[in-house]
Amino acid sequence: MTTDTLTRSGMFIDLEDKYGAHNYHPLPVVLTKGEGVFLWDVEGKRYYDFLSAYSAVNQGHCHPAIVKALVDQASQLTLTSRAFYNDKLGPLEKYITSYFNYEKALIANSGVEAVETAIKLCRKWAYVKKGLTDQSAKIIFVAGNFHGRTMGVISASTDPSSTGGFGPYMPGYVIVPYNDKKAMADALEDPNVAGVLVEPIQGEAGVVVPDADYLPYIQAQCREKNILFIADEVQTGIARTGKLLATCGNCSCEGFCENKPEIKPDILILGKALSGGVLPVSAVLANDEIMLCIKPGEHGSTFGGNPLACAVAMAALDVVRDERLDANAEKLGKIFRERMQQIVEKYPIALLVRGKGLLNAIVVDDDEDGHLAWDICLSLAAKGLLAKPTHGNIIRFAPPW
Ligand SMILES: Cc1ncc(COP(=O)(O)O)c(C=O)c1O
Repeated sequence: MTTDTLTRSGMFIDLEDKYGAHNYHPLPVVLTKGEGVFLWDVEGKRYYDFLSAYSAVNQGHCHPAIVKALVDQASQLTLTSRAFYNDKLGPLEKYITSYFNYEKALIANSGVEAVETAIKLCRKWAYVKKGLTDQSAKIIFVAGNFHGRTMGVISASTDPSSTGGFGPYMPGYVIVPYNDKKAMADALEDPNVAGVLVEPIQGEAGVVVPDADYLPYIQAQCREKNILFIADEVQTGIARTGKLLATCGNCSCEGFCENKPEIKPDILILGKALSGGVLPVSAVLANDEIMLCIKPGEHGSTFGGNPLACAVAMAALDVVRDERLDANAEKLGKIFRERMQQIVEKYPIALLVRGKGLLNAIVVDDDEDGHLAWDICLSLAAKGLLAKPTHGNIIRFAPPW
């Protein structure tokens, strides 16, 4: 690295520091190009990307088929709003509903917007179908969750850095400990509970995988009590965990997804890799009984379902199926955990490795507020691998494949 190149990185970092809001704390690496699993910084140094934009780039950076869909559609039509029909939204809705086996899809933009949509849909269903009195519906969340940054979503958070100084919060939420069936069972006794919203694996919390019977238990209880089971698969979905969805569990599919999941959420929330990281696309999937509770004029967004996003999402889902990214993630994830386990056994600084498919983390010997994970990430970056701590003592490893 020459003095000139150092200055170049420093210049971009200074610009963000001076003119941008200080709501992130990035590693000091300034990226300019991506291809597959690789990223390059402005000095020309190449890195393995082991973050994948928080699992948005499962298909690899600038995947040619997805970029082609983007470019072709961008020169044809980008946005009409939903005041009119367009010739890409219907085809995406047909494709995505058959891909994930639901009757209806609502296409949105960011992950948190899709979570907000699911919350609204759940409440509406509770009043229209379940028969709860207006304003009384409750939704159960679990401690340690991360569903995004809007008010409606941080109101369910137990992380003080997400919530602190942003009150007052949304009412109607119940928060129980994660992976605790008894606590969940107790909370589900409340007749005003309309839904349970969980991440099948908690990503931001540090890739926390629940017991194998936890999600099936929630689903069974929800079925019994006429409560909606809502899965936030914004980070875990779309082949990240070695199956099409983390809720697939030990599904019995022999080929690519034959729609035989171990559990099937009543409402499924997707985002991130739905566009292969090319532009924001998210989706909420549900059957008619639930989705049609929202009527024209009751929910929407200017950009949701725009033709550009729809063309890109179809291409991104094609890539997942055609390249069997689920099987790749399963295979590579096993290799990753085996090798990491050897490191854990050899070096006391590394306490454990956990995860599923290619969503993995190591826990290092420090406090949650410590610096060890950050320091290791700096060393990894110097050696050409980009990863980011989720806490002071946890590093997530989630490469594209
Ligand atoms: C599980 C989960 N839900 C929702 C979100 C929010 O997605 P977005 O940042 O696109 O709003 C995230 C983001 O990391 C996430 O991990």
